[in-house]
Amino acid sequence: MMDLLTDNKVHDEARQGEAYAPFAHDPNQYKKRFYIESYGCQMNFSDSEIVASILNDAGFGATRNFEEADLVLLNTCSIREKAEQTVRKRLTEFRKVKDTKPGMLVGVLGCMAERLKAKLLEEEKLVDMVVGPDAYRTLPGLVEEAEGGQKAVNVLLSRDETYADISPVRLESNGVSAFISIMRGCNNMCTFCVVPFTRGRERSRDAFSIVAEARDLFERGYKEVTLLGQNVDSYYWNNEADNTNVTFAQLLEMVALISPELRIRFSTSHPKDITDEVLHTMAKYENICNYIHLPVQSGNTRVLQLMNRTYTREWYMKKVDRIREIIPDCGISSDIIAGFCSETEEEHQDTLSIMDYSKYDYSYMFFYSERPGTLAARRYADDVPEEVKKRRLQEIVDKQYQLSLESNQRDVGKTFKVLIEGESKKSDLEWMGRNSQNKVIVFPKEQYDLKKGDYVNVHVHSCNKATLMGKIV
Ligand code: 5AD
Ligand code: SF4
Repeated sequence: MMDLLTDNKVHDEARQGEAYAPFAHDPNQYKKRFYIESYGCQMNFSDSEIVASILNDAGFGATRNFEEADLVLLNTCSIREKAEQTVRKRLTEFRKVKDTKPGMLVGVLGCMAERLKAKLLEEEKLVDMVVGPDAYRTLPGLVEEAEGGQKAVNVLLSRDETYADISPVRLESNGVSAFISIMRGCNNMCTFCVVPFTRGRERSRDAFSIVAEARDLFERGYKEVTLLGQNVDSYYWNNEADNTNVTFAQLLEMVALISPELRIRFSTSHPKDITDEVLHTMAKYENICNYIHLPVQSGNTRVLQLMNRTYTREWYMKKVDRIREIIPDCGISSDIIAGFCSETEEEHQDTLSIMDYSKYDYSYMFFYSERPGTLAARRYADDVPEEVKKRRLQEIVDKQYQLSLESNQRDVGKTFKVLIEGESKKSDLEWMGRNSQNKVIVFPKEQYDLKKGDYVNVHVHSCNKATLMGKIV
């Protein structure tokens, strides 16, 4: 959490370039090896698990060492310029290895592939394959094309692809928590955001396939699932069989009913779409975690309008009130952008004051980065000077430090049910887990015979701004 707050361009890039190699089967059974690195949001990491499944079925085994791979893939992010720069740097590193290993293919997947399309192939000849987020089923065919020396590109976006029938290969999993993608794409046209262009129209996945995936994970020992979508509250699936519809609140309930021992989280919620029905469903089921990621982006109504967020400052504040009314101990986190087009000093102050009002436990904070093709890039001047953006961002970061510390201090003296995720980073004599509000709690193992995936009650005796420290009760 600490580096998330200190590194200004965090959030998505916070998990950068992680490589995975699941060896569910004998690695020698595969005729070829692939290596995959993921950048960006949770959705991208989740997509890489789908890609791994498709490649496994096509006879590719994974490796953690890209130098021994026949196929090197980067699942990329375009959300800010910095994210794309990181990928480009990585591609030039791969290029060096490729020069010594002629058969090796390099592919770019995800949002950057979708945004830059065939342009990526032309540029500096770094890449052999370009595959957009809705085209992963065609990967095996594209690999063959690339092997034959052709330029392999598929960046077609789909109106109905949800990969519902593909059972993701869980990469780098702690065996306790997993992500389940419940919808793809985004229909909100936030003016700063490239996602509607890179991930296409919104579509919801078959509710029964989601429940089946969650049940399967639970049966395999997982204790927590996070339902993922760019805008989960607008989940809406029509069951053609009997022409009934499933809303997000109903989906939450269906997953919650699998077992009281299975925790459910979800992300991301758009303030305009989260309903009372969802809040009541959260309150009704103990295993639906009391935590909502509710990005505000800005605290000023004029700026929110320019961003096309479709709510006002006051409307957002009422939403926070409603959450606190229905779920009094709910954790709330946010995404915040500093220095959006034409933002004044006073408007920036509104962002700081809405943070105070909302008492965020945590925030992902960025300065505005203009993205080509977005509505903001076309309509507004990116006119807040970089030093001003950075200074405002620092004020937001400082504010969040203070709020996180205060939030943690309010928890000292309380007891929480914690799901153990593993040993703490600092000591193998300590466990690390999370409470329902998504806060990290570290505590000594003592003489108890506990393991990863167990629930335990922990009394919090102290804290810093990132972590609660406690003792088993
Ligand atoms: N510049 C800065 N931050 C952005 N985000 C999205 N687009 C941009 C951009 N162009 C932030 C938003 C979003 C989060 C995932 O990334 O806060 O909620
Ligand atoms: Fe990045 Fe957005 Fe694409 Fe996720 S959906 S990888 S955050 S651009």
